[in-house]
Amino acid sequence: MAEILEPGILKGVASTTVNKLLKSGFTTVESIAVTPAREIAEMAGMGRDTALKVCRLARMHVDPGFVPALEILDMRKSMIKCTTGSGEFDRILGGGVETGAITELIGEFGSGKTQICFTLSVTAQLPVEEGGFGGNVCVIDTESTFMPERIMQIAEERGMDPTKVLERILIARAYNSEHQIILVNSLPELVEKSGIKLVVVDSMIGHFRGEYIGRGNLSERQQKLGACLSKLMRVAEAFNIAVVITNQVMATPDTMYGDPNKPTGGHVMAHSCTHRVYLRKGRQNTRLARVIDSPSLPEEKIRFALTAAGIEDAEE
Ligand SMILES: Nc1ncnc2c1ncn2[C@@H]1O[C@H](COP(=O)(O)OP(=O)(O)OP(=O)(O)O)[C@@H](O)[C@H]1O
Ligand SMILES: [Mg+2]
Repeated sequence: MAEILEPGILKGVASTTVNKLLKSGFTTVESIAVTPAREIAEMAGMGRDTALKVCRLARMHVDPGFVPALEILDMRKSMIKCTTGSGEFDRILGGGVETGAITELIGEFGSGKTQICFTLSVTAQLPVEEGGFGGNVCVIDTESTFMPERIMQIAEERGMDPTKVLERILIARAYNSEHQIILVNSLPELVEKSGIKLVVVDSMIGHFRGEYIGRGNLSERQQKLGACLSKLMRVAEAFNIAVVITNQVMATPDTMYGDPNKPTGGHVMAHSCTHRVYLRKGRQNTRLARVIDSPSLPEEKIRFALTAAGIEDAEE
């Protein structure tokens, strides 16, 4: 079914832009989705950035199929990275948490997942020149662990105005997995309207694990989880924002050697996330982080510290 192009159909695109597209012969959303952004820019006489945005939004409406590799490169060029607060952590992530991707934090209780999410909720607000996204943050909190006081402490330690930082974080408590799905589905509109550059889902899997118990329910659970993750990925790509989610670990008693803990969520989770970071407890306030199964990052283990400022490099 072809969707007729008209003002308002692509959220966040000005009607003057839509009119330019219509004038240059783009009458359906599909026609935009299948045209390289470079061509759209030329044909409709608009900036490359606008054309890219229009293209991404159109592709959220339709399945794009194959995309020219050159275009993926263009998209990756508009990608920006946000500091985690720890230089070492940023380094193993290839410079920080990136836009257009899902970064998954995996670890047992107390391994620092939520502390990293808190720190990023603060650092994402820093201007781009200072290692942030210069944007607002949206948090989907499924475990009611979001603590405004802790955010204020992190902001203060980092020399930022705590109240202003809190003002720029939007929080939604998800009561169950269905509610979580509804919240994720509402992101496209919210992200555009509220200038969101970072979306946090802490935890991505908790409700799903709690509600779908037993083998018989596993396939339904995985299907719903997969759909929700794919929506998050589309939002990350379409709006060039970062998505950070947390995941738990499960003990696998049959492990002969090494760490018996495995990430939950199975293949669906593993394949839906761009970067997976595995966290473990270290001595005292330190934690260990290792990037696993990344398409572009080497596996290297580093140490960071949980401090008043959120997360920081550990002292040697
Ligand atoms: N203000 C603070 N200063 C230093 N460390 C802190 C501070 N607040 C919390 N922590 C430390 O953070 C750790 C908890 O980490 P976090 O809440 O991120 O765990 P998590 O991985 O999210 O666990 P869960 O799976 O239970 O959600 C605790 O060890 C706690 O001591
Ligand atoms: Mg937590």
